[in-house]
Amino acid sequence: MTIDYGPLFTFRSKIINMKKKRLALITGATDGIGKAIAIGLAKMGYELIVMGRNSAKYEGLKAELEKVRADISVVFYKADLSLVQDTQSALNKVKDNTSELDLIIQTAGLIPHSITKTNEGIEETFAVSYLTRFLVVRELLPLLLKSNDKILFTVANAGAKGKIYFEDINFEGRKFSPVEVVKQFQQCNDVYTMYLSEKYQNYNLKVYCYNPGLVDTGIHQGWPFPFSFLRQKVVKRLFMKPPDKAAQTPLDVIGGALSQNTVLINSKGNKINPSKILSDPVYQQKVLDLSNSLIDSAMK
Ligand SMILES: NC(=O)c1ccc[n+]([C@@H]2O[C@H](COP(=O)([O-])OP(=O)(O)OC[C@H]3O[C@@H](n4cnc5c(N)ncnc54)[C@H](OP(=O)(O)O)[C@@H]3O)[C@@H](O)[C@H]2O)c1
Repeated sequence: MTIDYGPLFTFRSKIINMKKKRLALITGATDGIGKAIAIGLAKMGYELIVMGRNSAKYEGLKAELEKVRADISVVFYKADLSLVQDTQSALNKVKDNTSELDLIIQTAGLIPHSITKTNEGIEETFAVSYLTRFLVVRELLPLLLKSNDKILFTVANAGAKGKIYFEDINFEGRKFSPVEVVKQFQQCNDVYTMYLSEKYQNYNLKVYCYNPGLVDTGIHQGWPFPFSFLRQKVVKRLFMKPPDKAAQTPLDVIGGALSQNTVLINSKGNKINPSKILSDPVYQQKVLDLSNSLIDSAMK
């Protein structure tokens, strides 16, 4: 007896073809951890929108992604993410050309070596590592909420327990401290992450902020002597992991292999217990007001 699987097979292939391809928007994909994540997402079958400032580095990334998956669809929107206006105009183009997003993953960032203000008057690391990230979410959340997947993932320094100097975000009235500068923008990231996870829990939005620990990337370039020497000879060898290892936790969370009930994630992929203040509605509102007003003044 022969069984004819023909129509059944055709029906099944149609269903597979009908299954929508997942689309991710990623920042910081031209280097380091973000690049390793982009390559991992390509392997997982995602199509990509890349936002970044360097077209030549993007072309290199694209070539690598096409080696991973020849049929990948990847588009580039050029934006200097230290600038609100530049970021906003790239986001306008994304919105014009995209109806739905399944994942937004933001990794663009840098380490402060001094207080450098952008020509919009904002401390540069605060602008890249928090403020334009906030803007990306503010503008693109409606596209994400349309998806069944709805994942928002930030690679940063989750759980830094920093102080926000609401009256002096640029550290103009205090001594420069790289640690305090990083902790300040990170506190904003943590507050915004907790706010979003709480506000959109009934929408099934999954929100994460991750601290990868020490990773061997170009972000550490520019350390002054003797730290540069120690970094090369000791820290790198003993404490730093390669970017593809740091990318594994985000990829596992996105792929569903790790618990998805966590919001703040440490370098081992475990939950960081959020401090109480991160969920304080008055504090959250203060951070939202600060962010919106900095964006408004940069747009003028
Ligand atoms: N590496 C670590 O040890 C470590 C530890 C804790 C947290 N993190 C966090 O992890 C994230 C990724 O860091 P990484 O180590 O992968 O750094 P990285 O290798 O230096 O890569 C940084 C990425 O951010 C992009 N970027 C920086 N400034 C930008 C700007 N103004 N406009 C557009 N893109 C900009 C870079 O673009 P270009 O390619 O154009 O330069 C690059 O793609 C950062 O948020 C960092 O704070 C890293």
